[in-house]
Amino acid sequence: MQTGFSRIGFILAAAGSAVGLGNIWKFPYVTGENGGGAFVIIYLLAIAFIGLSIFIAESYIGKESRANAASGYQVISKSQSKHWRWAGFQIFAGILILSFYAFIIGWIIDYIIISISGLPTTIKEAETTFTNLITNEIGTQIFFHTLVVATMIFIALKGVKNGIERLNLILMPLLAIILFGLLIYATTLDSFSQAMSFMFSPDWSKLTVDSLLAAVGQAFFTLSLGMGIIITYSASMDKKANFIKSSVFVAIVDTAVALIAGIIIFSFLFAAGAKSVAGPGLVFISLPLIFSGWGIFGQVIAIAFFCALLFAGITSAVSLLEPSVRYLIEKFQMTRVKATFAASGFLYVLGILALLSMSADYGSMLTFFGKNLFDWMDYTTSSIALPVSGFVTCIFLGYFVDKNVLKTKFTSHTSVVIFNLWYALIRYIVPVAIALLFLNKLGVL
Ligand code: PHE
Repeated sequence: MQTGFSRIGFILAAAGSAVGLGNIWKFPYVTGENGGGAFVIIYLLAIAFIGLSIFIAESYIGKESRANAASGYQVISKSQSKHWRWAGFQIFAGILILSFYAFIIGWIIDYIIISISGLPTTIKEAETTFTNLITNEIGTQIFFHTLVVATMIFIALKGVKNGIERLNLILMPLLAIILFGLLIYATTLDSFSQAMSFMFSPDWSKLTVDSLLAAVGQAFFTLSLGMGIIITYSASMDKKANFIKSSVFVAIVDTAVALIAGIIIFSFLFAAGAKSVAGPGLVFISLPLIFSGWGIFGQVIAIAFFCALLFAGITSAVSLLEPSVRYLIEKFQMTRVKATFAASGFLYVLGILALLSMSADYGSMLTFFGKNLFDWMDYTTSSIALPVSGFVTCIFLGYFVDKNVLKTKFTSHTSVVIFNLWYALIRYIVPVAIALLFLNKLGVL
């Protein structure tokens, strides 16, 4: 019985992982905060040179080792040293991220319901709706968190082919249809051209060093790198598939979705005369308010928009669970059922603690050294674990794997020139870029 991905299944699942809240929520507001067009150009370069190189690297490790994201490193290293298994810390980082990614998807479900029952009509109401959800509505949040985790368990239990591949086969086309519909609508608005020029005509004076680093960080997050996801998915890909081509394809799809989401959201924002910089509250505060101004039709747009976010989020969440499941199965000979429940049980409880740490009633109990648990989890993963694991992957392939083996494997799919370019990037340029990003996030630079 075939249990791995089909070729198209792999591409859809990897794209499903990559296209997530990062594209539809984070990319537009980070672009807004960094002045638009110039940032977009830097971001495209970061994707093409840094993100794509690591994506290809992770895909190679998975495809060649056909193992989980911890032993995969050991299997293909020159020395076969057991120490490389420590690279598997990224699997743990993934589970931490998933514990809060899950309840954020829960907020989205809540907003689908709000879109149906009635959107906030004033800025004050829009703000209280959101803050109230986070600080006071513990029961609602736990309910949706449970629903999201249960859905992930359901998919994971069905396995790679019948669970993950099938889910993506359904949700990705739906996501594409909704985004396409929203884009068409955006083109009919007067603000469309303003949005296009905001996104595509660069004003270099707005660019700072921080913007460069934000672009690299976003490239990393949006391609789902540094969490063992691409390694794990690639370990189930068709052995003969061209992993370079599929990587390029996924990067293109992911970038296209980010750009389209940006065009849609800025058209909506500018139509309402809103400022381009709206920060993280953009999706949950500014947009609902704009939609409510459009009456019944706005509700329909709101439902479509939040469904797109939901679909994008679910396919990413499912991808975050699989590295742990595969690891537990291979390392402890667990059954898929046991592994799925063990990983999900852990992240479920942790997610509840994280959401409680933002609540009015329990926040102070779950705040340590001035940061609540949620902020700590976000900080230790996105600012520390992700860049460190990207760095480790580059150093690993650049210095601890036989170059000739890499060259032979790569050149059966691509030219020597492309291989040399990738090798130089992974050996010298990308590690330096990541180190800069890392030091900046830690506040050293
Ligand atoms: N790549 C996803 C996005 O852009 C985010 C993600 C992060 C997915 C971590 C999986 C793991 O939203």
